[in-house]
Parts: sequence; C-alpha cells; structure tokens
Amino acid sequence: MRIGVLTGGGDCPGLNAVIRAVVRKGIDNYGHEFVGFRDGWKGPLEGLTRPLTVADVRGILPRGGTILGSSRTNPFKIDGGVERIKENLAAQGIDALIAIGGEDTLGVAAKLHDLGVQVVGVPKTIDNDLGATDYTFGFDTAVNIAMEAIDRLHTTAESHHRTLVVEVMGRHAGWIALHAGLAGGANVILIPEREFDVEQVAGYVEKRFQHQYAPIVVVAEGAHPLEGQMVLHNQELDSFGHVRLGGIGQWLAEQLEERTGKEARTVVLGHIQRGGTPTAFDRVLATRMGLGAIDAVHDGDWGKMVAIHGTDIVRVALAEAVRELKTVPTERYTEAEVFFGS
Ligand code: F6P
Repeated sequence: MRIGVLTGGGDCPGLNAVIRAVVRKGIDNYGHEFVGFRDGWKGPLEGLTRPLTVADVRGILPRGGTILGSSRTNPFKIDGGVERIKENLAAQGIDALIAIGGEDTLGVAAKLHDLGVQVVGVPKTIDNDLGATDYTFGFDTAVNIAMEAIDRLHTTAESHHRTLVVEVMGRHAGWIALHAGLAGGANVILIPEREFDVEQVAGYVEKRFQHQYAPIVVVAEGAHPLEGQMVLHNQELDSFGHVRLGGIGQWLAEQLEERTGKEARTVVLGHIQRGGTPTAFDRVLATRMGLGAIDAVHDGDWGKMVAIHGTDIVRVALAEAVRELKTVPTERYTEAEVFFGS
C-alpha cells in the first residue's frame, strides 16, 4: 500500500515518535510505502509532499515538533476543498491516510471517512481533552514543563512575598492546570470547567500569606470568573472557529493585588509547554500509538482512531473520539480543592 501521513493542529511533543513508528513498522514489517503530507490538511489540499523513508525518520524520536509541519487548515471551510483532497490523493496514488491530530484534525478525518477516504487517526494534544482515549501524548511533557516552572516560581515568590499567577494552556479543559498544579503544590488551581469567584481566590491567597508562604495560582487560559466575562486576547478566530485566548492570568493578578494589597505577578507559559523534547512516557505512548495505527491500516480497519485504555492500545471509531471533549470531572477537581489556601 502507499500511505500518506499528516500532522495537523497545534504541534505537540511525540508527533515525530508516531511518524517514526508508523514508517519503521510499515516498511520493515509490512513492505508499505509512505508519502509525507506537509502542514496538516493543507498538504493533501495543495499536493504538498515530502519523502518518508526509513532514512527520513532516523534520529527524530527525541525531537519535539513535527518533521511534516502542521497547520489548522480546515478543508471543509474551503470551496471544493474535499474534491481537491480526493484528486491529490489519487494523483499521488495514495491508498490510505494516517491523520495525527486533535479534535479538529480528526473531525476532518471522520468526515472524510464518511465520504469514502480510507483513513486511520492518531490522537494528539497537550490538552489531553480528546474523548475515547485515557491519555494523549504531549500531555505528560506539557505537565512536566509547567510543574518545573511552578517549582521555580515557589522560591522566588517566597523571597519577595508575592503572589505568582501561572497561566497554562487549556482552552476548554483544565487537565494541564490540574495535573501541573497538583504536582507543583499550587495554592489555587482554576480551570475552564468551573467558574471561579475572584473573592474566594483572594481569600485563599491571603490565607497562604498568613502561613508565611507565598501563593502560586495556576490558571488555565480558558478559565473565567463568575461574572461569565471571558478575557480574550483578541477576537480573531482560526479556521475551526476557535478564539485566541490569553489574558486571564494578567487580569487575575491585577484583581488579586487590588484585593490583598500584596504584589502579584503573572507568568504565561504559552508555547513553551508545546516545544522541545518529549518525556519518556510520551515517547513510549506515541511509539505504541504509531505501531497501533499502522496495524489498523494494514488490517484495512478504516475510520478508526488508536487509543489507550488503561495500558492497552485499542481501536475506537473516529466519530466516537470527536463526539465530545473530555473535560475534568468534578470529583477530580474536588481532590485538588483540599489543598487550596493551605
Ligand atoms: O490545542 C492545543 C493548544 O495548545 C491549546 O491548549 C491552545 O489554546 C492552542 O493550542 C493554542 O494554539 P496556537 O497558539 O498554536 O494557535
């Protein structure tokens, strides 16, 4: 078979490990051939390709990012986009596609499958918010980066008796905030799933100062206060209709400083959470998902996404995986609340 591979959406550590596993097993064990499509769905849309041989994937296991490039191109938002993809796949002699991406990229894959394209999906996102899989690779790396930042911020916050607000990624799901906050001993964790009361947060901060410690507040970029007023960086939408978030950390620091009289500063971790080398956990998970994906393609099991359930790599329907986001359940947040303000 001649198989196309693409990576779409925000990049994440572990993408190269998937590509390497797919290509190595696909060529060495099954004798398939590969074509790399560049920049997500833009690749098949515009016929942008690159070679993908065993030599091309040597040395990429520890590398962050994606050797294929990525974009948030949505072919369903482009006139004649789907037809152009089909034409380009035919022109390249592609029998099947492996799409590695999050809800948006895999949403496109699910629709293309319904239109007859032979496709298998691999879930990726640092946000860990894809349904039908217990974990996505990239998440563990992002959490470790955020945890290390929190560890460092504790010492400087204490020296200067300041509040430090750490804004982490997470548009609709607070998994990074929850895990990094728990692992880093944050004083308060704020997530998009639960509106927060700024007065209550200020109370936690004051209590922490009373214990002679400086508070660290971890806030997910998509968290919002009770008033329901989302703080938007700007109103720009990407081609999947998502707004660019950012700014809640700064807003919160100002509110806390005003209410507590103690200096508050903000650190926005931003894309640092997405860059660089994957952790061992993410390399192993990504590698196992890549092996699972090429097996699914070899079996002709189209319209499926590989997933991890417990410790097993399984196949689920793409449609099921993109049906709804996996958000933080109340009981997980309640566990974290035990440590707020103390
Ligand atoms: O979906 C992954 C993610 O990292 C989100 O947490 C974040 O909101 C978004 O991508 C930012 O993406 P970009 O800055 O690349 O548009």
